[in-house]
Amino acid sequence: MPPLPLSDRSGRTTDSPITFFIQKALETPGLISLAAGLVDEGSLPTADVAAAVAAIMADPAAGRAALQYGSTQGLPSLREKVLRHVCAADGVTPGDIGLSPDDVVLTTGSQQLLYLLGEALFDPGDIVLAEAPSYFVYHGVLQSHGVRVVPVPMDDGGLDVAALDAKLADLKRRGELGRVKLVYTVDYFQNPTGLTLAADRRPKLVEVVKKYSTEHRILILEDAAYRELRYTGPDLPSVKRFDPTNEFVAYASTFSKPLSPGLKLGYALLPSDLVAPVLHLKGNHDFGSANLAQHVVDRLLASGAFDRHVEELRRVYRAKRDAMLAALDAEFGDVPGASWTVPGGGLYVWLTLPPGVDAGPAGPLVPAALEAGVLYVPGEFGHVPGEGGELPRNECRLSFGVADAAGVREGVRRLRAAYRTLERAGARGLAAV
Ligand SMILES: Cc1ncc(COP(=O)(O)O)c(C=O)c1O
Repeated sequence: MPPLPLSDRSGRTTDSPITFFIQKALETPGLISLAAGLVDEGSLPTADVAAAVAAIMADPAAGRAALQYGSTQGLPSLREKVLRHVCAADGVTPGDIGLSPDDVVLTTGSQQLLYLLGEALFDPGDIVLAEAPSYFVYHGVLQSHGVRVVPVPMDDGGLDVAALDAKLADLKRRGELGRVKLVYTVDYFQNPTGLTLAADRRPKLVEVVKKYSTEHRILILEDAAYRELRYTGPDLPSVKRFDPTNEFVAYASTFSKPLSPGLKLGYALLPSDLVAPVLHLKGNHDFGSANLAQHVVDRLLASGAFDRHVEELRRVYRAKRDAMLAALDAEFGDVPGASWTVPGGGLYVWLTLPPGVDAGPAGPLVPAALEAGVLYVPGEFGHVPGEGGELPRNECRLSFGVADAAGVREGVRRLRAAYRTLERAGARGLAAV
């Protein structure tokens, strides 16, 4: 049979590496998944959503409006509320940061915005600077667009902005600055590390990007997917907050994490001249995200149910995060060279095992963990190879999103048991410990 004439883009696009892991979790009864990025099942807002849908449908005009097509950009009243929500968190008015509801786009999850922005900005061979490690699904998007990822190191304060400056200077020296389109940061409780961009780095990040925007504007994509899931410490101002002329920062977020991924509703605050290109592309994709979901979320924001739900989620996840941190102390406290992040929010803890341990998808820890009945995401998936081709293999992303507190504790215990089998066997990789 003659081959299908697939596009270059299709050839560049592969299945997410995590699919194998999700499949494993589904196939293995009794497995505790610290891998899935799903949200807590028990706290999904069934009653709130039922009440909102009932209220919409009780009014025939409102019901018909919600069941009809909406607009590509999204429900105006929800765009206004979204803008107010972000500005309230930042302690500014929309005018302070050059924004109006016309600069807000509602999307089918924030994932759609990540993709659309790529379609609007990238040609194959363009460059994106991203945190190392970073949200691995976005790496897939970049690969699909044919973009080269330049990794920027992180430390306890998130993206190392001085290192970003140095990388940009280096790209400039090599004559590659013209290919640099975007800096990507998940700046609140990052997926996968749980790290947050420090307050003093936020204005600096905008300054650095401005400094190198000589040939064209380099954008920052601020992916704030986990901002509302905050368990300790104050809410930090967004990076967008330091872009008063609304030129350099695209702010993307979602109702998936603080409300329900089943609603699959995201939103973006965009530089005004980016709105039309994104909407033209979104028109090709779906000419508007699910209208009923927008009406439901609009009601939940108006009634205060959203804010109450976020408070409840904070309580639930804080307890699960604490359970994971206590379990890591108890189980991995005696492993020399092991360390983990202490996230102030989000769904993830990043466990670093001693150098030389291979926790990657082809290493010995994954099968040992499966044998012990626990699944994690190999940290390797969050990295792109460095300049020397090296890829850290001794890291694990542990999520406390799905399992309950007892499950989280048991999952960490099983992971330690798996690690112990490697220690005993002196397995490949542990020799260097
Ligand atoms: C950092 C980050 N950005 C974006 C998304 C996309 O989520 P959604 O499309 O459901 O809004 C996710 C989902 O896990 C994420 O972790």
